[in-house]
Parts: sequence; C-alpha cells; structure tokens
Amino acid sequence: MAISIKNICCIGAGYVGGPSMTVMADRCPEITFNVVDKNIKRIESWNTSDLNNLPIYEPGLSLLINKCRNKNLYFSNEIEKNISSADMIFISVNTPTKKTGLGAGQAIDLKWIESCARQIAMHAKGHTIVVEKSTLPVKTAQAIKSILDGHTKKDSKNLDSDNKTFSILSNPEFLAEGTAIDDLLSPDRILIGGDDNNSIELLKNIYLKWVDGGKILTTDIWSSELSKLIANAFLAQRISSINSISALCESTEANIIDVAKAVGMDSRIGKNFLNSGPGFGGSCFKKDILNLVYICNYYGLNEVADYWEKVITINNWQQNRIVSIVVNKLYGTISGKKIAILGFAFKANTNDTRESPAINICRQLLEEGCTLNIYDPKVKKEQIDSDLRDENYSYLNKSDKEKTWKVSSSIIDAVKETDALIILTDWSEFNNLDFQKINKFMRPPCWIFDTRNIININKAKKYGFNIWKIGNGNL
Ligand code: NAD
Ligand code: UGA
Repeated sequence: MAISIKNICCIGAGYVGGPSMTVMADRCPEITFNVVDKNIKRIESWNTSDLNNLPIYEPGLSLLINKCRNKNLYFSNEIEKNISSADMIFISVNTPTKKTGLGAGQAIDLKWIESCARQIAMHAKGHTIVVEKSTLPVKTAQAIKSILDGHTKKDSKNLDSDNKTFSILSNPEFLAEGTAIDDLLSPDRILIGGDDNNSIELLKNIYLKWVDGGKILTTDIWSSELSKLIANAFLAQRISSINSISALCESTEANIIDVAKAVGMDSRIGKNFLNSGPGFGGSCFKKDILNLVYICNYYGLNEVADYWEKVITINNWQQNRIVSIVVNKLYGTISGKKIAILGFAFKANTNDTRESPAINICRQLLEEGCTLNIYDPKVKKEQIDSDLRDENYSYLNKSDKEKTWKVSSSIIDAVKETDALIILTDWSEFNNLDFQKINKFMRPPCWIFDTRNIININKAKKYGFNIWKIGNGNL
C-alpha cells in the first residue's frame, strides 16, 4: 500500500484533465503529474511555447501552465509508460451520449472509459489508485473494477506477474468552464466516494494542500457517482425553469430580471443560476440529463424520467422560439437579409462551442435563407465552420466560397450592412456596444435581439434601434 502519492497520471488532457491537473501541480510541487492523451495535436498544443495558443482558453490557466509545465507537470502521448509509473491515475476522458445501439441518444458511451480501464489493467504496476474524474453513470465503478480484477486474476497465473492491485475512487469534477481555475482553487466542495479508507485518505491529503477539510465530503462510491449527475440536473433544471418564465414575462409585460431577483432573494431559492438566455449549452448538461433519463427508465422509474426529460424539451423550445421571434420581427421573412451574430461559444470566457445554442440558432436562421456574419472573441473560424457544416443539408454543405455565413474579426466587421444583430453569448465586450457607431454600419430598421439581457435599452433606443430583449414584455 502506498503511504504517500509521488506520481500521478491523468488520462485525458481535455477541459477537465488539463486545468484540474495544472491546479493540483501548482498546489502540490512535491508530486509529479503526467497528463496523457491519445490525441497528438492536443498534446502538442499543451506543450506550445505560445501560451495564447493552448488547446483551451480559461482565464488564469496560462499563468499556471507557465509556472508548472516541465517542472512537475508534463503533457505527453506516452500513455503506457506513465500508467506504469503512477501511484494514482485519474480517468478524465470524454463520456458522450451513445450514437448507435442499445440506449442510443440517451445512455453514455462508455467505450473510452472501458479502454482506459483496459490500458490501466495491462500497464499498471504494484498498487494503483484509480480515480473516476469523468462524469459517469451510477455503478460504472463496478464495470471498471471487473475489468481491473479480470486482469489481476489472469496475471496471477502468469509467472512474471507483479501482483498488481487496485482501489477505485469516485471524485467527480464540478468546475464550470470560463471559471475553471477559480472553481478548482476555491471549490464549493470536493466529493470523494469509495470504500477503501487508505485510498480516500491519500486523495483527501492532496486536496487538503489548498482546500478546507470541512469542504471535503466522503461517501460511498454510488452516492458520489450519482451526486454529480444530480448536481448537473438541478443546475440545468433551474435554467429551464427561468427560461420558461422568460416567455411568460414577454406575454404579460413583466420583466424576467425583476422576477428572477424577487424570487432569488428568498434564501431558500438563492440568486445564482437564474439568468434567462438562449438555453443551456456545453458538453455536459444535455448528455448528463439524457443519461439520468435513461437510468430512471432502466430502473422502471418512468415518471421520474419524464420529469427530467422536460428540462431538455424546454431548452430546445427556448432556442426554437428565439428563431421564430427573429423571423417574425423582421416582417416574417429573413430570406436575403443579413444578420450579425455576436457570440458563438456556449458561454463567456471559453472557446468551447459544444452544444452551444448558437449552433442550432444559426443553422435555423440559415435555413430561413439569410446570410450571417458571426463574431466571437475566442472561437476560431475553423471551429465555427465545422460546427455549422452538415452534409445532410444543402444550405449547410457549402464550400468556403459558397457558404452563406462569414466569420468576422470584430463587432464592427460583423454588423456591416446587416438588418439585425443577435447577441447569443454573454461576453463582456458586448455589454457596452457603441450603438452610435454600430448604427452607422447597419441597414434600417436596425434590430437588436438580446438573448442574454445585457444591453442598455435606453442607450440603444437613443440611436434608433428596435429592440427585443429576452423576458422583457415591456419594450
Ligand atoms: P474532452 O473531450 O475535452 O477531453 C477528453 C480527452 O480524453 C480527449 O482529449 C481525448 O482524446 C482523451 N481520451 C479519450 N480516451 C482516451 C484514452 N483511452 N487514452 C487517452 N486519451 C483518451 O472532455 P472534457 O470536457 O475534459 O470532459 C471529460 C469528462 O469530465 C466528461 O466525463 C465530462 O462529463 C466531465 N466534466 C466535464 C466538465 C467540463 O466543463 N467540460 C466539467 C466537469 C466534468
Ligand atoms: C456546468 C456546471 O456548472 C459545472 O458545475 C459542471 O462541472 C459542468 O457543467 C460539467 O459537468 O460539465 P458549464 O457547462 O461549464 O458547467 O457552465 P455553466 O456555467 O453551468 O453554464 C452552462 C450553460 O448554462 C451555459 O450555456 C450558460 O450560458 C447557461 N446558463 C448558466 C444560463 O443560461 N443561465 C444561468 O443563469 C447560468
């Protein structure tokens, strides 16, 4: 049994593996961290000397990378070697929704988790603590354990067996993108699930380097796995709740900002996560709720499944409803019109576009026959192009020359000769738009659609804009 952890391997150098190991490396200089990934380009980007070109954008990340990289933090494609030398291995790989087969469209595709378990089983040496960092369906630890145990038994028949043993812990990650470094440095809680007290203590001791002991919660492994899914489901449910009420506010001349404030001041409800918007995006809320729905149905809890599925129904409805509003306000047709899209990332302060509401909204607008100028401060052109292209639809399957959208390099570049602008991401640079300047570049009657409730209506009206603001029935 290890008495202290000297060498940690993290499989998966993505939005979770990269930042979480960087913060751990910063707080635990005596431990060596090897973050490994099968994606060669991604590892090259983590190792780039140009800190503005790391594979993910997170405020504060490049500073810490600069401090720790190649001191006690390494990014590499040498997966087997780094598994062999690790005392503790975090599994931080992607867990998307299954696309085909049993449970397609709802269940989680565990093939990446399974392949990690097999790699660990093959290459680990001595005692290894395996930590589930990815978000997983409840009971996944059982599958990982049986793969690891299978190898242990097989190897024990081998003469050169090195008596490998494993403990499995669940330690889900609660960081949000855009605030990942702050969330990791000052987490609301750290959750560790497992039944091996020695391993739990070893992992706890790592977090105790910077997290108050009172915030470290230990549970059985199933409660830990399930808590992560439920935390995301509750957060997404709040957004669908407030978004459903944004529509009611528009119909009743009420204002969603005032309603959210009045409701959120009840300390039992709380003020956070009550901003109405174009619907939640991001790689996790949708897939985690779909997975929850699948699990509930699996256990015969069909009413519970139906209840949670509605969170997604409202999220889709909110996106579709925004498209209808834009078309209706622009006299029922946007064919031949030009629209500026401000923001493509699923939220501010990230370059991540996975499940961004902008994708669905832009595609629907393009289907209506308009052209789009899209500007996002951090999302690259190649990403926007690949998110919008779809070979199944002729209007989305165009060459660079023929396509009906353009990626713009600034707000002004985006609004030139447009009939309307739509704010889809809450980037701070959209808070104080220069309405006077923008107005000069647009075509009257100059509509602004603010799906994030961030513009100053009075200022915009002063320069003759027509305005639609989400949840605002009194414009
Ligand atoms: P990601 O897609 O950004 O990164 C996953 C990485 O794992 C990829 O680079 C992929 O190449 C690599 N990988 C997959 N299988 C591998 C293997 N067998 N060997 C080596 N590398 C392998 O995903 P992410 O956003 O970091 O999410 C990872 C997990 O964390 C998911 O379960 C997600 O639900 C959860 N999570 C994500 C967030 C978030 O904000 N993105 C927050 C909390 C939890
Ligand atoms: C979310 C959770 O907040 C994290 O705790 C969790 O670890 C993570 O999912 C995960 O498991 O992946 P994230 O998706 O990065 O984090 O970002 P959020 O801040 O939760 O925003 C999600 C979406 O909801 C965004 O599209 C955002 O714009 C939207 N949102 C958020 C609103 O529309 N209104 C709000 O009040 C808050």
